[in-house]
Parts: sequence; C-alpha cells; structure tokens
Amino acid sequence: MRPLANGATMRPSILVTGGAGYVGSHTVIALLEREGEYSNYDIVVVDNLVNAYSRAPNEKKPESIRVIEELTNKTIHFYPLDIRDAEGLSIVFENHSIDCVIHFAALKAVGESVEKPLEYYQANITGTCTLFEVMRKYGVYKLVYSSSCTVYGEPERLPLDEGHPTGRTLTSPYGRSKYFCEEIMKDLCTSDKKWMVISLRYFNPVGAHRSGRIGEDPSGIPNNLMPFIAQVAVGRLSELKVFGNDYNTVDGTGVRDYIHVEDLAEGHVKAIKLFQQPGFNGFHAVNLGTGTGYSVLQMIAAFEAASGRKIPYKIVGRRSGDIAANYADVSLSHRMLGWRATRTLDDMCADTWRWQSSNPNGFKKV
Ligand code: NAD
Ligand code: WQD
Repeated sequence: MRPLANGATMRPSILVTGGAGYVGSHTVIALLEREGEYSNYDIVVVDNLVNAYSRAPNEKKPESIRVIEELTNKTIHFYPLDIRDAEGLSIVFENHSIDCVIHFAALKAVGESVEKPLEYYQANITGTCTLFEVMRKYGVYKLVYSSSCTVYGEPERLPLDEGHPTGRTLTSPYGRSKYFCEEIMKDLCTSDKKWMVISLRYFNPVGAHRSGRIGEDPSGIPNNLMPFIAQVAVGRLSELKVFGNDYNTVDGTGVRDYIHVEDLAEGHVKAIKLFQQPGFNGFHAVNLGTGTGYSVLQMIAAFEAASGRKIPYKIVGRRSGDIAANYADVSLSHRMLGWRATRTLDDMCADTWRWQSSNPNGFKKV
C-alpha cells in the first residue's frame, strides 16, 4: 500500500488495460468474484473504447463495466484512455497504488491488420512499450500479457508446447505484433531482474459469463467462428461459410482448441498469484487451452444441440492464412499455475447461447 501525505494508505490496485473488452471484462469479474483473495484490491481499468460499447457519449463507463458493477455490487475505477497516452497513464499510476498490470488492450482483427499494419503496430507495439515505460517510471514490474497461440505459426508438431518455435511462419501483422511484444518483454527481463512477466498464450476463447449478462460483442460481421455461429443461430446472419473441408483432420474442417472465457479469466487470476512466490522473476510463456481440438462441423453440431436451432452452412474454399489444426499442450499451465480448464464444449455453447439469445444485438439494446 502506498502511504499518502495525511498518513493514510492507498489500497493496492490491479491495473487492467483493455478491461472493457471481451477477455478483459471476464477477467475483471473473475477478480471481483474471488471473495477474500482480492477483496482488498481496487480494480482499475483503462480502455480507449475502440472495441467496447458505451450507451451514450457522455456515459462515464462502458456497458460491460457497468454490468459487472451491477452483478458484483462493486465499484471499478474506469479511465477512458489510450495506452499510447503516457501522461494519461501516469495520472492513473499517481491516483492508484498499482501492484500489477494485466495487459489486454490491443487491436485483434487478423484480416484488418493485413490492411492496416501501421495502425496495428502503433496500437499493439507502441502502446505496449508506452505502458512499460510508465510502469518502470512508477516501479511496477509485475505484468500479465495477453499473448496468442498465433505466435507459433504453422505447427511443426502437435500438441503445441511452449518450447515450440515462435515467430517463424506468421501470416499477419496482428500475429507479428504479439510475437514482437513477447520478444520485447524477454529483452526487458534480461535487462532488469525486477521484471516478472507471464505471457499467456490463449488458444481460441469462446463462451460468455454464466449470467448471460456479459459476452463477446464483435462490431460488424464477426471474423471468428463462435460469434458467427451464434449470430446465425439468433437470426442476425443467414448462413455460416465453412472455410474448407479438405484438411487432414477428423472431418476435413479446421480443428482448434476452444476454451471457455471464464476458464481463461481464472487463468489470469492464478497467474497473478505467482508474483507472490519468493524469487519469482523473468519471462514465462504459458499456454491457456484445454488440450482438446474440435472441428468446425463438431462446433456446429454442439451449438445446434445447445441452442435447439439449426445452423445453415455452406462449404466454401479455405481461408487464406488458416492452418489445419492446433491445440495446446497444457501441462505447463497445470504445473506452473495450478490451473486447468474445467468447462466443457457444451458449457461453451450453452453460455454463448444464453448471452446471444438474451442480447441479440450484444450490449446495444436496439
Ligand atoms: P477486445 O477487442 O474485446 O478487447 C480489447 C480491449 O482493448 C477493447 O475494449 C478495446 O477498446 C481496448 N483497446 C484497444 N486498443 C486500445 C488502446 N490503444 N488503448 C486502450 N484500450 C485499447 O479483444 P479481446 O478478445 O478481449 O482480446 C484481449 C486481448 O487478448 C488482446 O490483446 C488480444 O490480442 C488477445 N487475444 C485475444 C484472443 C481472442 O480470440 N479473443 C486470442 C488470443 C489473444
Ligand atoms: C476457427 C476455425 C476457420 C469463421 C483466430 C486468430 C488467432 C487467435 C484466435 C487472437 C478455423 C473456421 C471461421 C467462419 C469458418 N486470435 N471458420 N467460418 O483462425 O483459429 O484464430 O482467433 O490472437 O490469432 O487468427 O479462429 O474463430 O477465426 O476460426 O469455417 O466464418 O473456424 O477456418 O478453422 P482462428 P477462428
């Protein structure tokens, strides 16, 4: 706790960048739901709202944060701020006694990143470096970073373990931005032993909070499979295009390791506990997945069962840059974090459907 001039102390805080977004909001609620463990911590969110919905321009907090406050009956300190704004970030570090940072803020649309590489490198790399500079200025060296299985590129072997080479066959500026950030964090940890960095390599996050009140809310047509299926099921989109059925997989369609976003969120809660371990430091990459892959057709069947809706689909050609299959080796996450995914594919589909069917337009009510 940081002492104040009047002798009082500031409560320790966890700074969550991009905390109004999909994975960030589920992590914020997971932190607030941990009765006892983090109850003496304040949660501070900074988000520039580029991919988070606010009901009105003058609304103080985005909808996801507002709903979390309602569900938990707790207050979240929210700053509508871009992580490239060093002065703005400094004010946040002045106002709160930040103990550690969970860094989600980034642009994440793979296709868009091919068209707008500079915007992606600016937001994801410059933004990340600015955040690190401000952290160093305030003596905050504990960081959990949102990385991605995309850093592995085309798998040389399956399941993908953390020792698999990274950065070799990346096909998008988005993927490269995640890889470059990991390299930057390794360099930081080499330069100064005070840094403690856990880079969580997510596989494919899906699902929604069990309440059905928060979930994934993509703007425009979804790029990813699960939100696309959900929008077909609810009638917002007419048909799913299945990108290729000639891969060397169980039924020819792409196989991925889908992980429930609540399991993923709990992985972050476990990760920050490592900072309390005596002697813990350096850079650590850890996969967050289930270790099991499902094909596109298996996903469609599971969603039809969970929703009771038919998902019309058409097989089309392969999507450029796609790989046939990937799934995680999850043994390090078990050993190091004491964490494993517990929710099933049925849970992922049922929770997505609860969110999508009760909020057909996402956070927008009309
Ligand atoms: P999201 O877009 O829902 O959330 C990101 C949040 O960051 C948004 O609320 C957005 O408004 C905010 N943001 C973006 N740029 C910002 C900036 N410059 N300053 C401040 N805020 C900014 O995305 P998500 O799915 O929750 O992903 C979170 C993180 O996880 C990202 O870093 C992403 O690369 C990573 N990731 C996501 C997936 C996935 O499939 N969802 C998989 C692997 C890794
Ligand atoms: C899954 C499967 C598609 C849409 C992406 C990013 C990756 C990471 C996770 C952030 C594939 C098929 C999809 C559709 C389809 N994100 N599909 N029709 O490609 O594994 O990974 O999200 O770090 O970086 O690339 O996920 O959900 O797009 O695709 O047939 O309309 O569904 O071909 O086999 P992907 P996805």
